[in-house]
Amino acid sequence: MTEEKKNTASAAAPEPAAKRRGRGKLAVVVGVVCAVVVVAGAGFWVWHEQPSFCNAICHAPQDPINATYDGEPGQAGLDKWGNPVDDMGDLLVVQHKQAGLTCLSCHEPTLGQQITEGLHWASGDFEYPLNERSLTDLNHYLGKDDPESFCLNESCHNMTRDDLARATSALGERNPHVTEVRHDQIECGECHKSHRQSVNACSRCHDDAPIPAGWLDAGQAAQLDASGFPY
Ligand code: HEC
Ligand code: HEC
Ligand code: HEC
Repeated sequence: MTEEKKNTASAAAPEPAAKRRGRGKLAVVVGVVCAVVVVAGAGFWVWHEQPSFCNAICHAPQDPINATYDGEPGQAGLDKWGNPVDDMGDLLVVQHKQAGLTCLSCHEPTLGQQITEGLHWASGDFEYPLNERSLTDLNHYLGKDDPESFCLNESCHNMTRDDLARATSALGERNPHVTEVRHDQIECGECHKSHRQSVNACSRCHDDAPIPAGWLDAGQAAQLDASGFPY
């Protein structure tokens, strides 16, 4: 018993050194794994910020919505539904790309949204092509109930509605940005479209509503084929 103890003790004696070396190796392995995870994570995060992330699986490269972002000012192309656009620079998505923005600058996905969409994708229970989203829809996961805040916020167009009305006073009597129009207001996104040409929705009723270059009037917008690409 004493002998055994001794043996164990003597056999055990060198162990702390071996253990230390073992721990040293383990620390290196853990360190390397952590570094790989951090670098891969950072790489993932960078990739996650790129349009290619959205396009990789879900909004697959052939999704026409991606081609709207790839449009070049001065060149003809197609809107998200495949309708011809004479100058892709008229699309807000291209104008914002020129200003250095990506998909995620406008579509700020929350974790909850990504998980929900991921689950829909995994279960095959998703709508494609998507019906057009309003700014209220796009705000849904952000917990913002004011559609104006999609465009008018500190990081984007940092101005009040009155500033906007002043900046666009050249639109005259039919300036849609003034708040004191006598009837109901129209949501910003009913006129300002990102992945198709914008439309002056006041022209549904007012023939004299101004239609800036590159915009459509309500009649032209109604002619667009919203059925999406046939795949
Ligand atoms: C300038 C802001 C902006 C950028 C940049 C942007 N989007 Fe959008 N997106 C919108 C708005 C606004 C809508 C609402 C419909 C519209 O305006 O066409 C929308 C709608 C969508 C929809 C819903 C389908 C629909 O027709 O409403 C999808 C999907 C989408 N965008 C994907 C993308 C992807 C992918 C990118 C990058 C390749 C991107 N968006 C870049 C603003 C933007
Ligand atoms: C009825 C259609 C319509 C609605 C609704 C509308 N706009 Fe506009 N907006 C226009 C038109 C038309 C212009 C002029 C565009 C041009 O000249 O190219 C414009 C211009 C702008 C500009 C550019 C201003 C500048 O300095 O040149 C911004 C920003 C803008 N709108 C934001 C908004 C926001 C935010 C909302 C919602 C609060 C909104 N718009 C609602 C039609 C609309
Ligand atoms: C559904 C039809 C409809 C739409 C869309 C519409 N309006 Fe009107 N608007 C009317 C009618 C009808 C009147 C006259 C009756 C009244 O005063 O309420 C009017 C009156 C006005 C007036 C008062 C001066 C006048 O001409 O009598 C202004 C200003 C105006 N609209 C601006 C706008 C703007 C800006 C938009 C887009 C943001 C718009 N309207 C969209 C139907 C519409």
